[in-house]
Amino acid sequence: MKVVVIGTGHVGLVTCATLASLGHEVVGVDSDESKISSLQNGLAPFFEPGLEDLVNEQMKAGRLSFTKEAAQAVPGAEVAFICVGTPARADGEANLIAVEQAARDIARHATGSLVIVEKSTVPAGTANRVRRAILHERSDLASSIHVASNPEFLREGKAVDDSLRPDRILVGAESDFAREKMRQLYEPLVDQDFPFIETDIQTAELAKHACNAFLALKISYVNALARMCERSGADVKAVATVMGSDARIGPQFLQAGLGYGGYCFPKDILAFERLATRLGYSFPLLQEVARINGEAVDATLDKIRDALWNLEDKTVALLGLAFKPDTDDVRLSPALALARRLLDEGAHVVGFDPEAQANAKSEIPELEVAPDAYECAQGAHCLVVCTDWDEFRDLDLNRIRESMNYPVVVDGRNLFDPESMRANGFTYYPTGRPAAV
Ligand code: UGA
Repeated sequence: MKVVVIGTGHVGLVTCATLASLGHEVVGVDSDESKISSLQNGLAPFFEPGLEDLVNEQMKAGRLSFTKEAAQAVPGAEVAFICVGTPARADGEANLIAVEQAARDIARHATGSLVIVEKSTVPAGTANRVRRAILHERSDLASSIHVASNPEFLREGKAVDDSLRPDRILVGAESDFAREKMRQLYEPLVDQDFPFIETDIQTAELAKHACNAFLALKISYVNALARMCERSGADVKAVATVMGSDARIGPQFLQAGLGYGGYCFPKDILAFERLATRLGYSFPLLQEVARINGEAVDATLDKIRDALWNLEDKTVALLGLAFKPDTDDVRLSPALALARRLLDEGAHVVGFDPEAQANAKSEIPELEVAPDAYECAQGAHCLVVCTDWDEFRDLDLNRIRESMNYPVVVDGRNLFDPESMRANGFTYYPTGRPAAV
């Protein structure tokens, strides 16, 4: 099938590469010229395991190309994906201007029957607006252009695998034509028995927000439990194990820590809450989820203050700057929220991240970055684990302790074992577990 993907960010580029690998002929379009020229040279504009290789492989196979011009890519396409950003406006509403522009651009250059697919996360009801935008642009193709919603469930850091081995493919379609095209598009995955769920469009749109909000709710729930465990002497990791062993609850997304960040959960929670309000339904639980998430950084800061007393003349080392492991993405990273608070209180802050150093530095120029974890810890009064990169598990803790000014570790991701930290002579503050002070 001839497929066009508008937007080559995390969702768009992964969509391009994985659909090409399923055998489709894909063109990725982006208005950012520098992004397009680096993609044409085989360079992914961000770090995502396996993605750059897959992009190059598909380009060499002649199934994937990139252009800045929708006018070149859209004519003749059978399916056009909208994968543009939907950032939060000041009031929390999703800003859908890029979605509207993409829909109008696609319609303007359409030459015949075409399915326009929303993949960006959008509030329920957006497809109606997309349809109206298409009609304004091309009333002559009103019955040939169809709209569908096919929300993306990929996680950064695991995006390629999530797309090629999905828990489910969700398609909301307004017509049999759109439904049939989407079935054909995903046939290679459906043939491998990955679940294919068909709904109406608003249901698909709402289900995506419902999933992200529920996952964020799970994280905030376990983080609230961490606060209770810290006050009662209980161990949140053990509580989460007990909860997770109940098949009705499940073990995933019950890791207490610095909280969620990134480009999805924080904005999606706000947008979902705004949608509820607009629909006349009050859903304060969603505001609570966001509030509890903010508390996680406060609680970590309290531990640092408890260990160091005044912060003005102290150095705090941050292990991990990305919002989660296996990505260079620092958007709304809890690590950077903590760095800003520490800098405001006068501390000297040094960070290390295997992939996100440059992005972190451009967000916070006052942040010093170290070339590796050992240099990051060197001379620090406190080391804070902010992102649970696997490679941090194997650090030589003796070497770290000996190089630090004070042997204090605040573990914002419960990466280390409290007993071995105690045995190693650290003053150790985990999250939601008894401290070794
Ligand atoms: C999330 C969803 O997991 C995807 O299904 C969805 O497609 C995506 O948003 C999106 O809407 O595009 P992502 O933001 O890449 O994916 O990352 P997650 O793995 O969900 O992690 C989000 C945050 O929660 C991270 O900061 C992570 O450290 C934190 N987290 C996760 C916890 O604090 N505890 C946990 O137990 C799990």
